Amino acid sequence: MEVIILPNLDQAALLTARIVDKELRARPELVLGMATGRTMERVYADLVEMHCQEGLNFSHCRTFNLDEYIGLPADHPNSYRRYMQEKLFDHVNIDPACTHLPNGVATNLAWECRSYEALIQAAGGIDLQLLGIGASGHIGFNEPISALASRTREKALTPSTREQNAGMFGGDAEQVPPRAITMGVGTILEAKRCILVATGSAKADIVAKAVEGPITSMVTASALQLHPNCQVILDEDAAAELQGKGYYRWIFHNELEWQEFQHLQAPGARWAER
Ligand code: F6R
Repeated sequence: MEVIILPNLDQAALLTARIVDKELRARPELVLGMATGRTMERVYADLVEMHCQEGLNFSHCRTFNLDEYIGLPADHPNSYRRYMQEKLFDHVNIDPACTHLPNGVATNLAWECRSYEALIQAAGGIDLQLLGIGASGHIGFNEPISALASRTREKALTPSTREQNAGMFGGDAEQVPPRAITMGVGTILEAKRCILVATGSAKADIVAKAVEGPITSMVTASALQLHPNCQVILDEDAAAELQGKGYYRWIFHNELEWQEFQHLQAPGARWAER
């Protein structure tokens, strides 16, 4: 695991988008794992800008989202399908047929979960998985005591997750669907590369547990410590409770692979320089 601490949300999102940009240019048929939520909004805004201003090409890539609420049809204003359309898919040249989210209104949910796993396998697995972290320590909707070997399945959401997501539902946690389909922790760990992004002081405590605490199903994000290629990208506020900040900063400033990312360029800056 590598921990990268940047001054603010803008920089954390821009680095994340620049990593996607680099991977997509190197491998246009990349299989991307997508997350939703507030943290990712800025990442997707940067990717849209990179598409519009720098010609970042999504036409050969495929995407698989982590999760979807059970009971919300794709066109529901609060479905994750709708979120993805509004934040990213409608603004880039991605083939709609190559974007995948679990179907939250499938009549046979167990079959839907198995098919979703099969689709990921058929695509050759996920190359780059984007992740946020919930207040409960979840990745995807893998709430506490989710098996660390779990696969895509139905999951009940904790009260804290429903509170966290209430903003999208008029501030009323009771309106947040109580269940979701989510990729399992085991599914996520099979991605070739994982990037977890967290910003803001509300995430500081859970980020410290996930990064420096024991690997435990009580904080499913801690399972990322087992992943051979995982970066945790934080702003200063989210990093506030980490013990090893000085060491993580040293690595970021000295490892060769990060040299090109030391001075991040906003979308469009590359071409403006020419
Ligand atoms: C969403 C998802 C969740 C969120 C997490 C953080 O698809 O899988 O794990 O990434 O709850 O959400 P925000 O960014 O809203 O704090």
